[in-house]
Amino acid sequence: MMYSILLSLNLAIALISASDLPNHIRVSIPTNVPTIASGVIDHAYPGFAIAQHAFQDYAGNLSHPNIFSRNLINSVTEKTGTAVHIRVGGTSATPGGIPAGIKLGPAWFEGFASFPGVQWTYMAHLALNTSGAEANAVAEVKEALKYIGQNLEALEVGNEVDLYPGRVRSANYSVREYIHEWMNYTSAINSQVLAAPVYADHREPWLIATTFEEGIDKNNNIKSASLHHYMETGNLPTITRQASFMNHTAIVNNLSYFSQPVNWLKQHHPDIPVYLAETNSDTASTNDTDLIGVFGSALWLADYMLYGMTLNIRRMNIQLSTGFDYTSWRPVEYFGAPPAVLPPYYAQVFVADVIGAPDDVRISNLDLGPDLLSAYTVFSANSEKIAKAVLVNLEEWNTTTTYPSPSTQVQLLTPIKGLWRIEKLTAPGAESLANITWAGTSWTYESNGLPIQVADTTEYVHSMKGVLDVRIRASEALLLTLC
Ligand SMILES: *[C@@H]1O[C@H](CO)[C@@H](O)[C@H](O)[C@H]1NC(C)=O
Ligand SMILES: *[C@@H]1O[C@H](CO)[C@@H](O)[C@H](O)[C@H]1NC(C)=O
Ligand SMILES: *[C@@H]1O[C@H](CO)[C@@H](O)[C@H](O)[C@H]1NC(C)=O
Ligand SMILES: *[C@@H]1O[C@H](CO)[C@@H](O)[C@H](O)[C@H]1NC(C)=O
Ligand SMILES: *[C@@H]1O[C@H](CO)[C@@H](O)[C@H](O)[C@H]1NC(C)=O
Ligand SMILES: *[C@@H]1O[C@H](CO)[C@@H](O)[C@H](O)[C@H]1NC(C)=O
Ligand SMILES: *[C@@H]1O[C@H](CO)[C@@H](O)[C@H](O)[C@H]1NC(C)=O
Ligand SMILES: *[C@@H]1O[C@H](CO)[C@@H](O)[C@H](O)[C@H]1NC(C)=O
Ligand SMILES: *[C@@H]1O[C@H](CO)[C@@H](O)[C@H](O)[C@H]1NC(C)=O
Repeated sequence: MMYSILLSLNLAIALISASDLPNHIRVSIPTNVPTIASGVIDHAYPGFAIAQHAFQDYAGNLSHPNIFSRNLINSVTEKTGTAVHIRVGGTSATPGGIPAGIKLGPAWFEGFASFPGVQWTYMAHLALNTSGAEANAVAEVKEALKYIGQNLEALEVGNEVDLYPGRVRSANYSVREYIHEWMNYTSAINSQVLAAPVYADHREPWLIATTFEEGIDKNNNIKSASLHHYMETGNLPTITRQASFMNHTAIVNNLSYFSQPVNWLKQHHPDIPVYLAETNSDTASTNDTDLIGVFGSALWLADYMLYGMTLNIRRMNIQLSTGFDYTSWRPVEYFGAPPAVLPPYYAQVFVADVIGAPDDVRISNLDLGPDLLSAYTVFSANSEKIAKAVLVNLEEWNTTTTYPSPSTQVQLLTPIKGLWRIEKLTAPGAESLANITWAGTSWTYESNGLPIQVADTTEYVHSMKGVLDVRIRASEALLLTLC
């Protein structure tokens, strides 16, 4: 008897200490926009990027546009009230690209007609330096523009040019030579809307500052600077969903780096924003669904996108590619796997609703302390008053976890008396691949990518006596909106 009481006591202690988060947190939220808040968020912040070799899968062609993709993209547009921006490019279809040996035929370009209203960034090829390569790149741009028409946001010339030295150029290839080639190509393409530079890593000497100081914008035709970022590309045993992705501190550490180029441009070229124009989780893209393609990955991506907004990164183009485990949806059947909406898509619609429409907002990170609990406050740019708050509980809890899902009571201290709508991004567990809902809505292939209300998870809470009291479960996110 005694023994069994002790045993269950030990078990109880084990159950409680299983959670890394406190039971209860109290924190003040600002009523007025703080000076550290972001600038006005671009409604088009949640964008996509499509790997060139997968574009035909995502978009289809003139006779077979991919309507499933179109519907998924339109949900984001409806939420933010603005066209989705998509960048099409990558290392494919260049020598030694991933995958190698791809050639683009005329029907490939028809995909740009598949998504009415979408604003496009198209990447012209630069990597090949044989005779005729430039003429080919110019011809491709012409072909793409046939279908893009008025919906061109910008053209890029070359992808991840900082990786060229020793690969597709001599080992001593420099920023100056890049700019020389870039000037040559852009004058032949004759465009006034360019995104440049396009760098993978942003390391010495391939920096935004160096490239602008060397004169890349001397013709005043650059609209945005494009950096690429993948959170984790290694393959170490220490990389886990919890430590490397579902972890606000890791996200902060990763993205903070970009403050430097953002602030440099703000000071020297205030009209040129920084886009993470190709970004996602990675860990080499395949055979890693458990790390990068489950509901926990959607929570990671939501927090990653929100934190990027606080740093004044102006847009994230979330990379998509058929067969990559991090991709937001599988647009066509792929080696026997049917088309499907995949968990990371839910981050996009969640973030789109955090931004909302038609009001402009500004956002601020609210530091709660623990690695695994993240929070933001969102302000109306007009009234400068608080409008929303976001809570993301990144503590991993799977449906197979041996203890019940822990939760944390969060008391937001605010003098505002009012009714708050509490909407949930939730799923059976962090490892879930399906049955995910955002504000009770699901998107599936069966619904052809259209939103379907499947559950009623929304609640309303009054803030009273200076406290807005909410409870958040492990592996769940909440959007709190002042009604
Ligand atoms: C358009 O896409 C459909 C479906 O994938 C395909 O069968 C057809 O051959 C494509 N058209 C062209 C011109 O390639
Ligand atoms: C073209 O690229 C090759 C490497 O692929 C390099 O050796 C050569 O110097 C380059 N030529 C020019 C003109 O940059
Ligand atoms: C780069 O190296 C090549 C030999 O590989 C040489 O011909 C060229 O002059 C060098 N360029 C510069 C800018 O140093
Ligand atoms: C671009 O470079 C090629 C070869 O180096 C040259 O023939 C052409 O005149 C250049 N074009 C421009 C617009 O500078
Ligand atoms: C979160 O990431 C930080 C920085 O990489 C690390 O120090 C910390 O241990 C991680 N937390 C968890 C719970 O894995
Ligand atoms: C991002 O974080 C991961 C660990 O979570 C680390 O391995 C990687 O080096 C970081 N990248 C940058 C650019 O900070
Ligand atoms: C992924 O795993 C499959 C077998 O399960 C293997 O054939 C393939 O080479 C792996 N891909 C990579 C990139 O490791
Ligand atoms: C959740 O599942 C993953 C593997 O999918 C595992 O690494 C992790 O330890 C599990 N977490 C909990 C809290 O059970
Ligand atoms: C989703 O829910 C349905 C029933 O509502 C269930 O049959 C199915 O197994 C669930 N799928 C997953 C992946 O949890």
